[in-house]
Amino acid sequence: MTRSNRTAGAPDAGAAWRRLLTVRSAAGAREAGLRRGADGGWAWPEPVPAGAAALAARYLPLCLAGPHTAFAQLGQSADGFIATRTGDADYVTGEEDRLHLHRMRALADAVLVGAGTATADDPRLTVRACEGAHPVRVVLDPRGRVPRGRGVFTDGAAPTLWVVGADTAAARGRPPGDGVTVLSLGDRAAFAPRPLLSALAARGLGRVLVEGGGDTVSRFVRAGVLDRLYLTIAPVLIGDGVPGLRFPGTGVMRRALRPPARRTLLGEDTLWEFDLRGCGPQPGDAAGDQHADAGQARDEGEHAVDHGHGQALGRA
Ligand SMILES: NC(=O)c1ccc[n+]([C@@H]2O[C@H](COP(=O)([O-])OP(=O)(O)OC[C@H]3O[C@@H](n4cnc5c(N)ncnc54)[C@H](OP(=O)(O)O)[C@@H]3O)[C@@H](O)[C@H]2O)c1
Repeated sequence: MTRSNRTAGAPDAGAAWRRLLTVRSAAGAREAGLRRGADGGWAWPEPVPAGAAALAARYLPLCLAGPHTAFAQLGQSADGFIATRTGDADYVTGEEDRLHLHRMRALADAVLVGAGTATADDPRLTVRACEGAHPVRVVLDPRGRVPRGRGVFTDGAAPTLWVVGADTAAARGRPPGDGVTVLSLGDRAAFAPRPLLSALAARGLGRVLVEGGGDTVSRFVRAGVLDRLYLTIAPVLIGDGVPGLRFPGTGVMRRALRPPARRTLLGEDTLWEFDLRGCGPQPGDAAGDQHADAGQARDEGEHAVDHGHGQALGRA
């Protein structure tokens, strides 16, 4: 952010987004022209178009979350499914949610998906609907089952980290494309969300968007490692399909998780943003119970495979 940007006056939505992309701290927010109000919240001091004010309100919590934060997003039907029973997810939510998703990618160092999503959707995981740099793409694939022809491995649009079990062919072979780094983990416990996030942070990827699918996001929620969860609910009923969030939960309704939440309308869809920072691991979760072991496994079981493409990961 330059001095001329700082004094450029009230930003429109496009300028507001460009400024938000630079904000990583309170100092950065001030540099971007934002001011903290009496209520502790940040806003543009001068009257700004509604779009600019809305962008600051929605994304500043993420911008200011610090260098280590994990957040997740799912787009689901009103009856709780993220795809049909054949795995078709084109498209559960609408255009405004796609824009929101791309903005969150732009605010992340890494975007992570499970093997099911990388296989079923062949997603690009790049930033195309808004300005911003592509995050590093992370595919969580303990069995090395994602086909090598998938775009994240072959399109070269952004760096990709393929996280596989050490006992897989993927761990032993050459990476499937330029810009793909294979990270081989020797112990299944090292795939648990907490040690995995530590492994990513050690590679400079501290701000992680977990983009699906339901199984992967659920594991991160159960492990209690997410700061924020974004659920966009579309006014559609699928009836049966791929479930969204699942965790053991409680038999007593008044003990159900009710984290601080706020909602925003995205066209016909409703975006719910949950602040999970006070929630912790969910009771009865085997993965959560394994955290201590998993932390140890991280130190003992993980090793990167150097295929000659071993330069430090960075955003595209
Ligand atoms: N609407 C949306 O927002 C949205 C977003 C993304 C995806 N989708 C849809 O969701 C479907 C895929 O979702 P899904 O829930 O079936 O699968 P998924 O979450 O994409 O992938 C799950 C798999 O990833 C691996 N994995 C993930 N986290 C792991 C961990 N911590 N430890 C070990 N392994 C881990 C496991 O692979 P192994 O089974 O090989 O062990 C696991 O079975 C697709 O149909 C896709 O279209 C929808």
